[in-house]
Amino acid sequence: MSSDNPGFLARRLSLRQLQVFEAVARLGGYTRAAESLHLTQPTVSMQLKKLSNTVGLPLFDQVGKKLYLSDAGRTLYQTCVEVSDSLERLEMQISDMKGLKQGRLRLAVVTTIEYFAPRVLGKFCEHYPGVDVELKVTNRKRLLERISQNQDDLYILGQPPDDVELDARPFLPNPLVVLAPRGHSLVGQPRIPLKRLLEEPFILREPGSGTRKTVEKLFADHGLQARVRLELGSNEAIKQAVAGGLGLAVLSQHTLSLEGGAGPLAVLDVEGFPLERQWYLVYPKGKRLSIVAQAFYDFLMTERENYNIPDYLRV
Ligand code: PGA
Repeated sequence: MSSDNPGFLARRLSLRQLQVFEAVARLGGYTRAAESLHLTQPTVSMQLKKLSNTVGLPLFDQVGKKLYLSDAGRTLYQTCVEVSDSLERLEMQISDMKGLKQGRLRLAVVTTIEYFAPRVLGKFCEHYPGVDVELKVTNRKRLLERISQNQDDLYILGQPPDDVELDARPFLPNPLVVLAPRGHSLVGQPRIPLKRLLEEPFILREPGSGTRKTVEKLFADHGLQARVRLELGSNEAIKQAVAGGLGLAVLSQHTLSLEGGAGPLAVLDVEGFPLERQWYLVYPKGKRLSIVAQAFYDFLMTERENYNIPDYLRV
């Protein structure tokens, strides 16, 4: 094909074929791709066969029943993502010219953001009813993987990493606090030494969590090691475990936003706490934000104060 015949692919490829290929690659099989595109499976295989012939290389390697992208497939997949981003941007620009803000916002956030993201998104969608939102909630490690693969428009996380080029703007404090069941003997005691916490079992988030990394670093910086009784992959599960008396935990104070100051958990007054962290609104440096993503960015920056920790929850 191509290098000795410029424009060959542009003349021979169809957008439909790229769409079929993208769905097979993303969903990992013909059947699921066919379902998601409302096509029959033979149509999907035929489109893929034509595409592979045009490219002149296999796009998938099949091992047993599993499909893996070949090198050529991976390169083509990247092109599909770029083409679909460009078309989406075009759609938004056109609706912007018509005076409507329409399109899709793809937002990925760390788990603690789930305590305010749905509220802020609700308000954003009230302003821009034509916008669809895709919200991914995951831990720090997986979020960093998503950033490196350019999977979303915008990201929200704690301390951004130093080794990736990012546009990162702090927008809201994210204090981390020590939580205990309300009836615990340490509740109400002033200035509890950090060392005293070693006498208590601890509940930690899963490896890969930014909250966990911060807690581990704090103890390590003081030459201490917490006694870990349990690891759980969700902030809500940890709150339940603390309330059930399984141990203490360090979590974002935002995790208490729904039950307020009167729930089954109390914040301990421990030396060095709250750990003052910030949340950052982030995207890869140089990325052109879509019109909808830019609108959300601006909206969040003007609205952020409304999502701060309420006074009654402050330690
Ligand atoms: P986590 O992230 O959900 O991975 O604990 C929290 C953070 O980065 O602020």
